[in-house]
Amino acid sequence: MKVVILLNNKYWKMVKTLLEYSRVPMQGTIYYFDQEPEKVPSFNSYPIDKIVEHQNEECEMAILATEITEQSVRVVFAAYPKIGGVYDLAQAAAEFLTDDGRLPYLKVRTEFINPRPDLPYVQIGDFTYFDHLNVMSEVVDGSVVCKIGKFCSLGPDTTVLLAEEHRTTWGTTFPFDEITPGYGLPERSTFSKGDVIIGNDVWTGKNVTILSGVTIGDGCVIGAGTVLSKSVPPYTIVAGNPAVNISTRIPDDWISRFLEMKWWDWDYENLYKALPLLQSQQYEQLYEYYKKHIFD
Ligand SMILES: CC(C)(COP(=O)(O)OP(=O)(O)OC[C@H]1O[C@@H](n2cnc3c(N)ncnc32)[C@H](O)[C@@H]1OP(=O)(O)O)[C@@H](O)C(=O)NCCC(=O)NCCS
Repeated sequence: MKVVILLNNKYWKMVKTLLEYSRVPMQGTIYYFDQEPEKVPSFNSYPIDKIVEHQNEECEMAILATEITEQSVRVVFAAYPKIGGVYDLAQAAAEFLTDDGRLPYLKVRTEFINPRPDLPYVQIGDFTYFDHLNVMSEVVDGSVVCKIGKFCSLGPDTTVLLAEEHRTTWGTTFPFDEITPGYGLPERSTFSKGDVIIGNDVWTGKNVTILSGVTIGDGCVIGAGTVLSKSVPPYTIVAGNPAVNISTRIPDDWISRFLEMKWWDWDYENLYKALPLLQSQQYEQLYEYYKKHIFD
């Protein structure tokens, strides 16, 4: 299916993730008209000739991640005569706005981003976002999985090598069974060293590579360019190749309390209320909030 995405407001990041996640089988173009919402406040203020410049007779579906008005729909139909309709993401997003307009981004993401059941080897938690996440696996039946928690920020080009090991002790590392199949070779040449488990609230920098069998604990940070071959305990910052421990993210005596709080599992109402504490170093107050409102 040929798809065009017209994007000029704050939902751009969500849509980008959504598409990568859902792996919409599409050829065609994604036009990020503008990635900085403040520069183009509304679709209507985008020059029509710029949109028509991208006219595409073949396009069958348009996703508008912006406000939908009669004018904008008219423009899209003119530019893409074959499309059957306009997928109105912003409108849907508006339905999830809280009364005071906070956090549409988070709320929408849960609604729209669901792991595809036909990809049983990748599971991704709510709100986790990424940019060119690559989970490579020769084993796709779900017997090895890459499980990623909630609220992770996976930096550009994070790669998980889930089942991509060749046999280094055989006479050859060349995978004859896959490249020249039909010889009835008994054992598969590519294998996995085990599941990859990435916890909640994990941040990976750009170009991180995670090898099979690795578990990254909740709250970890993995520095840019790291090749991770060993598991990392919760709330640890590691970087380099081989990865070394740089520090912990929060003071050691707080790690157990953060693991106890599991803020990523809180109901959204409490989470939103506690955000000013969460996005700060007010650990004590956050913990008090938890004891008062979450802990029974
Ligand atoms: C890992 C990271 C978060 C560490 O930040 P930090 O806690 O402030 O650490 P510092 O800068 O004080 O560095 C501590 C040590 O680790 C080393 N180090 C830091 N990042 C490193 C990396 N990515 N690879 C190798 N070594 C690294 C530093 O050289 C320093 O070494 P030293 O103690 O021998 O002098 C940061 O360096 C990083 O890699 N950020 C990722 C940014 C990114 O990729 N963003 C993409 C968009 S999400």
